[in-house]
Amino acid sequence: MNNADIPENNSANPEPAAENVAAGNDRRPLKSEFDDDLDYPRLGSVGFRRGTLTENQEATWEANWPRLGRELSDEFIDVPAWFGREGSRTILEIGSGTGTSTAAMAPVEAGNNVIAVEIYRPGLAKLLGAVVRNDIENVRMVRGDGVEVLNRMFPEASLDGVRIFFPDPWPKARHHKRRIIQSGTLNLIASRLKPGGVLHVATDHAEYAEWISELVNVEPKLEYMGWPWEDCPQLTDRQVITKFEGRGLDLDHTITEFLWRRTSD
Ligand SMILES: C[S@@+](CC[C@H](N)C(=O)[O-])C[C@H]1O[C@@H](n2cnc3c(N)ncnc32)[C@H](O)[C@@H]1O
Repeated sequence: MNNADIPENNSANPEPAAENVAAGNDRRPLKSEFDDDLDYPRLGSVGFRRGTLTENQEATWEANWPRLGRELSDEFIDVPAWFGREGSRTILEIGSGTGTSTAAMAPVEAGNNVIAVEIYRPGLAKLLGAVVRNDIENVRMVRGDGVEVLNRMFPEASLDGVRIFFPDPWPKARHHKRRIIQSGTLNLIASRLKPGGVLHVATDHAEYAEWISELVNVEPKLEYMGWPWEDCPQLTDRQVITKFEGRGLDLDHTITEFLWRRTSD
């Protein structure tokens, strides 16, 4: 992903999105309403560059997206039917970008169903290409805002894991409310995880790491396990250094990782 392609998360004047991608074509409201006082950031109202697909990517999309991908909707996903198998663990990755770590991790955890959620179609197209080229059978994709996808497409206690790797740091103070790690998101993730399920977050942004550190105990249904957690039931090694991670390392940033376990209440 080059700079011309990435979402304009540092824009001083974010425009309302010309097209409400996360709403799909059916005019459903973009934003779910939550009846608590927690913070649920959504990206649908933030302008971002859409980028274009190459001819090859368009052809791959047309041939494979109907089987391997879906758009945000109000229908719960029937995961066993979509993956064609029963009894596998299901992990949701929010903000998979170009899917570099998704595609690298999937073969190492072939027994798990991995669902990558991204709003950025060229990123999904790259992951789709890798999945098709490498015959990766345990990855599916959803195009939409992660909070909306969690809330509208997954019932409570349906996921074994949630991953958020190198979320956009939104460094300007007035944009901090857009950060995906917030009290509401943590509450929603906790509700979608099964008891014992794992949330894994990684960031290379020191100030975002501090922000997350202040929230590690905010959600009572997520027990903070720190890092590393030796007996973590979920693969935590990303297998590759993604562009974002690499960029952070080049700048001599350190990577901070966070793991939580859903309580068994
Ligand atoms: C900094 S990139 C990191 C991508 C990838 N995880 C990596 O490590 O290379 C953050 C990604 O999250 C996506 N994103 C941000 N907020 C999102 C949201 N609410 N729902 C889905 N995707 C989101 C952005 O489009 C972007 O591709």
